[in-house]
Amino acid sequence: MKIVMLGAPGAGKGTQAKLIAESYGIPHVSTGDIFRANVKGGTALGMEAKAYMDKGELVPDELTVRILLDRVSQEDCRNGYVLDGFPRTIPQAEVLDSELSKMGEAIDHAIDVEVPDENIVKRMGGRRACLKCGATYHIVHIPPKQEGICDNCGEKLVQRDDDKEETVKNRLKVYHEATQPLIDFYSGKGVLKTVDGTLPQEEVFAAIKAILG
Ligand code: AP5
Ligand code: MG
Repeated sequence: MKIVMLGAPGAGKGTQAKLIAESYGIPHVSTGDIFRANVKGGTALGMEAKAYMDKGELVPDELTVRILLDRVSQEDCRNGYVLDGFPRTIPQAEVLDSELSKMGEAIDHAIDVEVPDENIVKRMGGRRACLKCGATYHIVHIPPKQEGICDNCGEKLVQRDDDKEETVKNRLKVYHEATQPLIDFYSGKGVLKTVDGTLPQEEVFAAIKAILG
């Protein structure tokens, strides 16, 4: 099963993608997580990506597509994957589509997690992230068992550099301009499903499971 998660920054794509990955036994592939791991590791890719991420801009398509195609060609992605944060532009979606169709494959479900912009800005201030395993928490809504420590791997949780209010506002602007058109793109392919992302995370996940079966 190949799934694409759509939705604004902070809509809960990562939160739900992790739950899907665990439940359906497919890898969670987040381009944002890949970039952050590279920033943390100080790689050349990380340096390049960081300049865009810190401003809330998109990393150029050419670089992002290369990273993503490399990741999904790995053995663990053979039976499918859940993409979180990719595609984010129409050209990215078109490349993915054409690469898949070469193998007679296609995206099975594009799940749009809908949350209004007002809720997003409030959520982001409380987000805490694990840069080691990609887990995401919220200090009020989804707290870790032990404050500041990842439940899964024991790593120290951090606030993301791009979660400052001004950067979040720019990420939302970029989302509406570059990424929202993907809703029509996947709707046109007949695979778009929408869930209400303002509900508690368990209820959002229940709605997704009902879609995926
Ligand atoms: P990326 O890491 O993908 O960030 P994003 O899309 O902005 O999305 P977020 O990770 O911020 O939000 P999310 O939807 O995953 O929400 P989360 O589950 O954390 O990308 C970062 C940057 O990398 C981009 O800006 C760009 O520069 C670059 N990049 C990445 N991919 C790219 C691409 N394809 N092309 C070009 N550039 C790319 O939830 C948010 C918060 O809400 C958390 O605190 C969470 O605990 C909480 N929460 C979740 N669900 C609920 C709920 N139901 N109720 C209450 N709180 C909830
Ligand atoms: Mg995320």
